[in-house]
Amino acid sequence: TKQKLWGGRFTGKTDPLYVFISPGIDSHQPISTSRMHTFNQSLAYDQRMHAADIKGSIAYAKGLRRVGILTEDEQDKIITGLETVETEWKNGTFKPAPDDEDIHTANERRLTEIIGSLGGKLHTGRSRNDQVATDMRLWLLEEIGQVENGLKGLIRVMVERADKEKMYLMPGYTHLQRGQPIRWSHLLLSHAFSFKNDLERLQQLIPRISVLPLGSGALAGNPFVVDRDYLAKELGFQSVAENSLWGVSDRDFIVEFLMWATLAMTHISRMAEDLIIYSTAEFGFITLSDAYSTGSSMMPQKKNPDSLELLRGKSGRIFGNMAGFVMTLKGLPSTYNKDLQEDKEPLFDALVNVSMSFQIAEGVIATLDVHPEKMRQALTMDVLATDLADYLVRKGMPFRETHHISGRAVALAESRKCQLNELSSLDFKSLSDKFTEDVHDVFDFEASVERRQAIGGPSRKMIFLFNFFLPFKAMAR
Ligand code: ARG
Repeated sequence: TKQKLWGGRFTGKTDPLYVFISPGIDSHQPISTSRMHTFNQSLAYDQRMHAADIKGSIAYAKGLRRVGILTEDEQDKIITGLETVETEWKNGTFKPAPDDEDIHTANERRLTEIIGSLGGKLHTGRSRNDQVATDMRLWLLEEIGQVENGLKGLIRVMVERADKEKMYLMPGYTHLQRGQPIRWSHLLLSHAFSFKNDLERLQQLIPRISVLPLGSGALAGNPFVVDRDYLAKELGFQSVAENSLWGVSDRDFIVEFLMWATLAMTHISRMAEDLIIYSTAEFGFITLSDAYSTGSSMMPQKKNPDSLELLRGKSGRIFGNMAGFVMTLKGLPSTYNKDLQEDKEPLFDALVNVSMSFQIAEGVIATLDVHPEKMRQALTMDVLATDLADYLVRKGMPFRETHHISGRAVALAESRKCQLNELSSLDFKSLSDKFTEDVHDVFDFEASVERRQAIGGPSRKMIFLFNFFLPFKAMAR
């Protein structure tokens, strides 16, 4: 196999993860000669909704049959025809015609070719306006499971590592300055907590996505009194849009998803930043596996955390999708306007990239090497200065005073160019007569972490106190 340009310093292969990306998102190749037709055409990217579109049409045909617009026989012919169209999509034999504007016109055109003019009865009382809104919701409901599973997979590997590597101590940072000792697991789970909330928020979106627009018509409802509760049941929607004008124009479910994705990617990005810093030679806390690193075309020694940098970088792109689409909606008049066709690319792009990001983050976390000895080396005695102040608190002194005395001890050690624990008992006594021989017991990182037994602390027994993580922990076994 061909050598990578920067492959020399690598032994492992890059991650073979394969994410299925439906055709369309990058293929804007015009299939018509008219400029306006090409500009107007969404088929290149909305063809990914072919299954949702067919599903919606089958339900609608049944709805029309129930109100007597179609006979049983007509209904059956239409359904068989629609199934044939879907088979063509699945086999890759569907041939878009130059005049197909979008997935809806393409499917109806093909249906009519297959079953004849009867195909023209399907759109009775329906508009592409209620059709496209239905398709988008159906499609998103279908795809969201993939996002949810990606997030669960990520949480699972984080919990798994946190469980296995509880004994590793490291400095916890504020302002990127060493603060207090913590467990590596505590840090990992802090990010997992953000993802836990993302998972809950994602699940909370579903009832607002699962609202059926079909039967709203172009804007003013359905004059054939199609049974919309029946349609909702057929298509698995939780409820029915109860105002037809709103039904065709609402895209808040897309905004909500994009906002959700923006926040989830912000969490991914912050975690990536931690790991990028920890993987530098200067920190050396972790090493990324070859599978998630790349090299430099010029500097042979380089191994760069490109996976993490892309995770951080993509958060900007997803925010852009969200901000751009909100701008599209702002100032639109009521009901359907063609601007709404601009809902597709940001949503599709966000969904693909978010679910890819979760999978990559999962792989990165699962395969990185942790260097507990480096973490330990970074634990200088000054991170126990708070514990030193707390020692005097336990001897009855007000914390404000103990904070000051501990600070003086730090300054003294600094002036002596020694570590805090290397000060003599006499040195300590010179700072306060409350210090006794046992002050040296303070200088124990494990004891410091274990003292933090209150809920939320880094002590061993606190780390997995939370019921939410238990199923993930069980999965990891
Ligand atoms: N392709 C269109 C979209 O995505 C479908 C709806 C078109 N409706 C219309 N009245 N032109 O929004």
